[in-house]
Amino acid sequence: MTEATQANLLDGTAVAAEIRSEVAAGVAALTAAGGRAPGLAAVLVGDDPASRRYVGSKAKACEEVGMLSRVLTLPADLSQADLEATVDDLNADPAIDGILVQLPLPKQLDEDAILHRIDPGKDVDGFHPENVGHLWLDLPGFVPATPAGVMELLRRTGVELEGKHAVVVGRSHIVGKPMAALLLAENATVTVCHSRTRDLAAVCRRADVLVAAVGRAGMIGAEHVAPGAVVVDVGINVLTEREDVERFFAGDEKKLGAFERRGSVLIGDVDFHAAAANAAAITPVPGGVGPLTIAMLLVNTLTAGRRRQGLEIASAGEPGA
Ligand code: GUN
Repeated sequence: MTEATQANLLDGTAVAAEIRSEVAAGVAALTAAGGRAPGLAAVLVGDDPASRRYVGSKAKACEEVGMLSRVLTLPADLSQADLEATVDDLNADPAIDGILVQLPLPKQLDEDAILHRIDPGKDVDGFHPENVGHLWLDLPGFVPATPAGVMELLRRTGVELEGKHAVVVGRSHIVGKPMAALLLAENATVTVCHSRTRDLAAVCRRADVLVAAVGRAGMIGAEHVAPGAVVVDVGINVLTEREDVERFFAGDEKKLGAFERRGSVLIGDVDFHAAAANAAAITPVPGGVGPLTIAMLLVNTLTAGRRRQGLEIASAGEPGA
């Protein structure tokens, strides 16, 4: 049975559309001021279907806001030296302001060595140690797009953070750790939980703002959510078993119908209906954090383009302004 959803939905699709139109205006202002449209190069190694889809969406989004996009698709058996040479070429290319190497990379490649080779001024993923350090030191740099997107969603939907207890579940380099740094910078009190955390539900119940980023379908349930908490679900998982779909989405005609048509449905790390019965506000999956990741990558690429041309003309209210 579906619980009556009491929570407000945090609409990431709407916030992402707002940010994308601001980026488009920023690109137009940059070119009107005599600048060059920023350029993003996306490097895809191998042919993992999910990575291919993500890179395709990023490239399309770039073009839609008037930026240059270049996708380099390289073979799965690529050598470390060849990928390093590709990064070196992009670092030296004056038309390219942002470089992203889609992760994960095939096993034979040393991911850290590649990420550390990207020019920090073009590192629009924010994964280079220099940018990671700048984030923790409150210095300007590039912030990973997904946690930056969560912060924009909270800011633009009026969620207060100062003095609040934020609990982050997951300690990945891409989401959990930068998320903690960003929440701390907004004066939240931050707890980071992980696979060894004892009594996870009790820790999560102390959260005013709960961010789930672990990659485990529906693991955050009603017992993790205090009444009135704000729940942000960063997870994107696929359910293919009917039994799982019926357990998480009993009575949810939309999800059940989608499963009948496609044989799979998306679910976050949060059991949405269970958590929404307690939460004051919650992000859906899809349509929550997901759309913000690409929007913030565009923001970072615009920032890189401006900085590299010495034309930092952000308008008020824009992310990064
Ligand atoms: N793989 C999963 N998330 C990301 C991301 O934000 N950037 C890159 N480059 N690869 C990813």
